[in-house]
Amino acid sequence: MEQFIKNLPKAELHLHIEGSFEPELMFKIAERNQVKIPFSSVEDLRNAYQFSKLQDFLDIYYAGANVLQTRQDFYDLTWAYLQKAHENKILHTEIFFDPQTHTSRGVPFQLVIEGIIDALNNGRKEFGVSSKLIMSFLRHLSEESAFETLNEALPYRDKIVAVGLDSSEKGNPPEKFERVFDKARELGFLTVAHAGEEGPSEYVWGALHDLNVSRIDHGNRSLEDNDLVALLSDEQVPLTICPLSNLKLQVVKDMGEHPLKLMLDKGLKVTVNSDDPAYFGGYVNENYLAVTKALQLNKDHLYRLARNSFESAFLLPEEKQRYL
Ligand code: HPA
Ligand code: ZN
Repeated sequence: MEQFIKNLPKAELHLHIEGSFEPELMFKIAERNQVKIPFSSVEDLRNAYQFSKLQDFLDIYYAGANVLQTRQDFYDLTWAYLQKAHENKILHTEIFFDPQTHTSRGVPFQLVIEGIIDALNNGRKEFGVSSKLIMSFLRHLSEESAFETLNEALPYRDKIVAVGLDSSEKGNPPEKFERVFDKARELGFLTVAHAGEEGPSEYVWGALHDLNVSRIDHGNRSLEDNDLVALLSDEQVPLTICPLSNLKLQVVKDMGEHPLKLMLDKGLKVTVNSDDPAYFGGYVNENYLAVTKALQLNKDHLYRLARNSFESAFLLPEEKQRYL
């Protein structure tokens, strides 16, 4: 099965570029920028990656991102991920970036996005990996800050396929960003949102109704509402599931309890993704392998998951045809 997974062509649809920041590269860039990291070694830092909930992870994830300062840093970060993507037989990837994590520290939007785009262009050239960029708003920040970020993205309208919503879910419901998402859609962006990871199934309804999303990121807690499951299944709304993330953030207590197989059985359009691979212990292949082992998935399941990933991608129909 491991070999089958390795050879299976995949798309990745839920990957935070800041969450692919491996400790080795973090130390290298910190030294280059003469920034101090409050850990004595790579091992020491990795040992700190023990989380009991989403917020534990977010605190350390934002602290890690503080090291990133130059266009070269964002290039190196993205390039390191693309090498991993290529090794994982990812032919197409749609990556999130969190501009507010950087602009709030005085790092210009332009430098962040241009470093990322340079690397994505090189990934296309060197590896043939196609890619799209999704700009994610931090939901713990204000609507006003999200509007400012949307404005900063306007010169790059053609480089960003969609806007998303991430960070601390509980207490920050989708409707907080309804007006920003309305504006983004008016400008031609597609929309996605993290929902039902830690937050309740009502937030999945909110993402669908108030934000008009094309996909739900995570969506695990949708299973608590049968009407919602029926809607997601009828409309074939893609869910970008991240098994190792769910385990590390204790959304599931044990991989054997992961609802992915149940979701497939209910006819939901599920995909498998790595979320923040540097923090959660694996890239896409490790995520496929972990659920395959724990839930006894067969080759038909895996083939379906991979096919779903391409069908759910923000590619034009003629582009998708190359992969299906
Ligand atoms: N959930 C919410 N915010 C995030 C995540 C996530 O899985 N990863 C990075 N930011
Ligand atoms: Zn995520």
